[in-house]
Formats: sequence, structure tokens, C-alpha cells
Amino acid sequence: MDRIKIVGGHKLNGLIPISGAKNAALPLMIASLLTDDRLTLKNVPNLADVNLLSRILRNHGVDLAVDGKRATPSAYIGETFHLTARDIVDTTAPYEMVSRMRASFWVLGPLIARMGRARVSLPGGCAIGTRPVDLHLEGLKALGAEIEIDAGYVIAKAPNGLVGNRITFPKVSVGATHNVLMAATLAKGETLIENAAREPEVGDVAECLVKMGVEIEGIGTSTLKIQGADRLEGAVHSVVPDRIETGTFAFAVAATGGDVILEGARREHLQAALDALGRTGTKVESVANGLRVSRNGAAISPVSVETQPFPGFPTDLQAQMMALVTRASGTSVIRETIFENRFMHVQELARLGADIHLHGDTATVNGVKKLRGAPVMATDLRASVSLVIAALMAEGETVINRVYHLDRGFERLEEKLTRCGAEVSRTSEA
Ligand code: EPZ
Repeated sequence: MDRIKIVGGHKLNGLIPISGAKNAALPLMIASLLTDDRLTLKNVPNLADVNLLSRILRNHGVDLAVDGKRATPSAYIGETFHLTARDIVDTTAPYEMVSRMRASFWVLGPLIARMGRARVSLPGGCAIGTRPVDLHLEGLKALGAEIEIDAGYVIAKAPNGLVGNRITFPKVSVGATHNVLMAATLAKGETLIENAAREPEVGDVAECLVKMGVEIEGIGTSTLKIQGADRLEGAVHSVVPDRIETGTFAFAVAATGGDVILEGARREHLQAALDALGRTGTKVESVANGLRVSRNGAAISPVSVETQPFPGFPTDLQAQMMALVTRASGTSVIRETIFENRFMHVQELARLGADIHLHGDTATVNGVKKLRGAPVMATDLRASVSLVIAALMAEGETVINRVYHLDRGFERLEEKLTRCGAEVSRTSEA
């Protein structure tokens, strides 16, 4: 099992190219199930989750070709995937696969819409919370899908096709919005999704669906109006830059001090996180090729945040924010409102010397003068990278175990940090 060793205390200086967003690449790949034409996706990040979804889609019958190495000026440009779902040969997404990656549950909507049937394993709980799928199922039922649960599987049928409807989500859900949006593209007539998730990854998928021939109004807002089409066409689409990777590196620069350009970063996709970062005393400027983040020796001011759906402060940056303010010059309060159990990093940060008190959904972080390196355990993707941030500012050596969590969502993490002056290395053990 791989481990990452970090020797803290080095400032970050230089340029970090931002990869394509994992959470856009995954639903975009799934959108290939909606057409028998070729969907070409550019800027796909090379991540464990992308590789797992590739296997799942191949199992449904999707042909997937990845362009070979290109003579490009930057080795960091993501891969180009060509996905063709000419014949869907299997409408079952098995437990062994769905349980390893929740986003694979999102094949449900496209499969029912295109094939009139699907059998998709319930994803089950996960480390950050119970994560039900009731909103997905209610949304698909509203489009006319008949759904039953049998032996841990969702069995969905729509023998005469789906029919457009008005769906008002009682709660904002990224996944349910993806699932229902994709299903609605092949439903008869118009679908109105109210209280839709506004996350930029949803917008990216909607833009791609428009290229595939669907009429969608309200992209980027909480009301999406979709005119169902008889068939979707192929398209070429480039995956949006990863706002969570951007925020993670921005917080890392704030943690260590230094001056880094985040190439390709889009400010409007993480304004709330950048505002919070600004309040810590970190400078964030827009530059021609992205964002420049810098902090000279000034103290980190404490800052309090509450996670919210977009455009609020993202839950996927909560752990990284917490790592940063462990060294603040006062007390910060961090409230997690999206997932009920997304504080696994607290115990591990405490191993490095952080002073954090948890009460329900709220963490009170009393800034300490220094962190000390220690062996720690990665628990989920974003929690793991918060340990990387803490380790970068800790004195001495930190060894992070179970780094496969990091490989699910961060492309070339060690390389990107090392090139900016961090001391990060990976060891593999059988
Ligand atoms: C997506 O998960 C992301 N995953 C998550 O990123 C992200 O944390 C989350 O959205 C919130 O932004 C991907 O895009 C692949 P939700 P998703 O449905 O869609 C509740 C990462 O680290 N809910 O928006 O599963 C749910 O329990 C991951 O990259 C229901 O109650 O999240 C949660 O409390 C982790 N019923 C809230 O809604 C439902 O049917 C928001 O979840 C669905 C969700």
C-alpha cells in the first residue's frame, strides 16, 4: 500500500496547472450512455475514480478509446476520451462496482431513459454519511419510471419511455440533479427541475448536453427547463477545471506561505472559498492565466465558515479550511451542514497537534503555534488532502497512510507540490 511522506516547513512558489474536474468528468462520461454517437471528452483527469467508471461503462457496452501521448507543450493537459455507447449490452450496474464509487449510481437515469430499463445497485453508506438516494428515485418516478428495490438493487422500468414533468427537489442534491437532468434529455416533452444544484459541474454537464442537441434553459441557475429529444448526437466537450483542486492548492499556499499561480483556475467557481481565504490574510488575484495566491510571513487570521450548496462555501473544501486554521492566531468555527459525518480528519489533525473540539455539526478550532509531523491515516478523499496541507506546515516528517483515497481525486499531487518547493515523496509497499 502506498504512503506519502511530507517534510513540512517549505514555502510553495511557482505554477500549478489545474486538472479537469473529477466531479464533472464522471457525469460527463456517464452522459455517453445517452447517445449511440461518439462523445469526445477532453481534459479528463487521470484518476482512480475515472478508471473505475471506465470499467463500469465498458461493462454496459461503451467503447472507450483514449488518445495516446501528444506532443503538447505541457505534460499536464488531461487525456482525451472517446466514448461510444452504440449498443448497450448490459443494463445492470453491479454492487461490486457501485459500492466502490457512488457517482456510478448516476448511470440509472441515462439507462432508463435510453433503454427503458435499468438495474443498479444501491450505493450504500460511506465514510462521510448515510447518503440516501431518495431524491434521485423520486425525480425519476416523476418522469414516469416504475421503481422497486429488490435485494439491494434499484429495478427501474419505463417500457414506453419517460415523460417530462415538473420536479421540485425538497433539498439541493448534485447527484439527483445530474441523474434527473440526464434522464429528462430523452423524456417526451418538457421537464422543469426546481431547486436544482447550481454547482459548476452540473453546469458543465448541461453545456455538454446542449452540444449533444438538447435544449436547456437556466443553466447555472436553480431552475432548469429541458426539452426532451428523440435522440442525442455526439459532441466534443472539454472538462471544466477542478474548483476543489484549485481551492485545495490555494489553501496549501496560504498554509505554507509563498506565491503560486493556479493555472486555468476560475475564480467564479469558488468565490465563497476565496473570500474566506482572503479573510485569513491571504492575497488572491485574478491573472491572465488563472489565479495568483500569495501570503508573505503574515499570521493566518482565524475565520469561521459554514458549508452550503453552491455558491456557498463547498463541503469539499471544509477539511482543507480546517487544516489551514489549525495554525491561525485565534479561534475559528467551522460548521458542516451538507454531510453528517464529515469530520474524520479532526482526529488525524489532532495527531499533528491541532486543537479542535467537535460538537455535533460544528468544529471549534483553536489555532496553535506549531504542528508536529506524525504518522496519520487518510480516511476519505478531501480529509486526506487536509492532512497533506497540515503536513506541509508541520515541523518534521508526516507519513500519510492509505493514500489510495488521494489517488481517487488528485492528479499528480506530489509532482505538483514538489515542483513548487514542497518535500513530498511516495513509497510503495507490497
Ligand atoms: C456530490 O455528491 C459530490 N460527488 C461530492 O463530492 C460533494 O461533496 C457533494 O456533491 C456535495 O457538493 C460527486 O460529484 C461525484 P448530494 P452527491 O446529493 O451528489 C443528501 C468528493 O469528495 N441527499 O449533493 O452524492 C445527502 O445525504 C465528493 O468529491 C439526500 O438526502 O451529494 C447530502 O446530505 C464527496 N437524498 C446532501 O443531500 C438524496 O437522494 C447533498 O448530497 C441525495 C442526497
